[in-house]
Amino acid sequence: MAGSNVRVAAEIKDLTRIERIGAHSHIRGLGLDDALEARKVSQGMVGQKEARKAAGVILTMIREGRIAGRGVLLAGQPGTGKTAIAMGMAKALGDATPFAMMAASEIFSLEMSKTEALTQAFRKAIGVRIKEETEVIEGEVVEIEIDRPATGSVAKTGKLTMKTTEMETIYDLGVKMVEALQKEKVQAGDVIAIDKASGKVTRLGRSFARSRDYDAMGPTTKFVQCPEGELQKRKEVVHVVTLHEIDVINSRTQGFLALFAGDTGEIRAEVREQIDAKVAEWREEGKADIVPGVLFIDEVHMLDIECFSFLNRALENELAPILVVATNRGITRIRGTAYRSPHGIPIDLLDRLLIISTSPYEEPELRTILDIRCEEEDVEMADDAKELLTKIGAETSLRYAIHLITAASLIATRRKAATVEVEDVSKAYQLFIDVRRSTQFLIEYQDQYMFNELPEGVDQGNGEAMEA
Ligand SMILES: Nc1ncnc2c1ncn2[C@@H]1O[C@H](COP(=O)(O)OP(=O)(O)O)[C@@H](O)[C@H]1O
Ligand SMILES: [Mg+2]
Repeated sequence: MAGSNVRVAAEIKDLTRIERIGAHSHIRGLGLDDALEARKVSQGMVGQKEARKAAGVILTMIREGRIAGRGVLLAGQPGTGKTAIAMGMAKALGDATPFAMMAASEIFSLEMSKTEALTQAFRKAIGVRIKEETEVIEGEVVEIEIDRPATGSVAKTGKLTMKTTEMETIYDLGVKMVEALQKEKVQAGDVIAIDKASGKVTRLGRSFARSRDYDAMGPTTKFVQCPEGELQKRKEVVHVVTLHEIDVINSRTQGFLALFAGDTGEIRAEVREQIDAKVAEWREEGKADIVPGVLFIDEVHMLDIECFSFLNRALENELAPILVVATNRGITRIRGTAYRSPHGIPIDLLDRLLIISTSPYEEPELRTILDIRCEEEDVEMADDAKELLTKIGAETSLRYAIHLITAASLIATRRKAATVEVEDVSKAYQLFIDVRRSTQFLIEYQDQYMFNELPEGVDQGNGEAMEA
């Protein structure tokens, strides 16, 4: 650890970053070339070139650390790729930059206060890059000897002989080390690293010297050189954890397991203060840097005035992440007030946002997106069926057409056909209109009309009663 009682854990990071993608699993980036121009079809992205290019410019600013205290608004009709572009940005940023995403409405359903939910979201989007010096023993295993105690006790001990090109040493093994080596299935001829502080064993590969010993080794076996120099080395390791992860791990009432369950509850202010102080100390000592990440809030018009003023204030913070928000609303009432505003966002916050707008797709683009989704879902579809689906997409919505892919493919499977034909798509289309799911669909897509200016006094359907 970076030398303190504040705990961090890099290993659990991957598990906590559960992305809610599914519908966007085909998006692998923004699909831009080196000059930041959007390629027609690339990394799962199709068309919407201007918006993708703009998103790419924002990414460059993020990477260069030049966008602190500001944010981005993705505005456009439903199904025009706003969420897809945000996902593309996340992918393009890579694992070393935290990206937290949430739908604004989650704030009202979590069992915690709105400000706590937003604070957690912000802290999920702020990374701490921690540099640690660790002592490792790195070398080629010459021999492992495990003692079999005659008394029948289970505790095993043993000896491990390791070498570099220059030296050879015998280490005594305790129970824990024997277990760690067995767990990694370490054998003579492996090149391994042992972290002295934690006892963690990492297999780096097979020694080249042993490459001819076994014919039976699989093609995945990685061969490495026997290390040179001393067996014991100092190594610098770097990992990025989020402030939220550090919060949770150090929260006495919750601890580790809460991160897996995703059920973190409220975190006490003292815990955060302690962690912020510690991180500041690490920064001063050069042990850690802050990595501002991205906080993406989808359907941002669902936030209310209290949340908006929280965002305004939070963006002033020295440690603020980049805020990316998306909405499909036009001029609408700001929740919790009687006032209307573009996108339902207060003017003072809007003022901080760079606006990227997305526009509806033409049929060729719809067709290409549907092609990509078919491939993504492993669905074989005939050309004329795809044409029909494209027409449906143009007349209803892209998302609806994407939903029909799965439905049509199930129908095709039921008649034992390998390829989805026109009849399957049209059957799925009828089913969808008739059953409850289609009702749900209509409710969801009434948003489509939200861009129309409604007469004064008519609320644009935030789903709540007028308060004014
Ligand atoms: N330009 C695009 N390229 C590839 N897929 C897209 C594109 N735009 C939208 N999609 C896909 O279409 C579906 C609907 O788009 P989405 O991003 O959810 O729209 P929005 O957030 O604007 O309502 C998603 O599955 C999304 O991944
Ligand atoms: Mg969306």
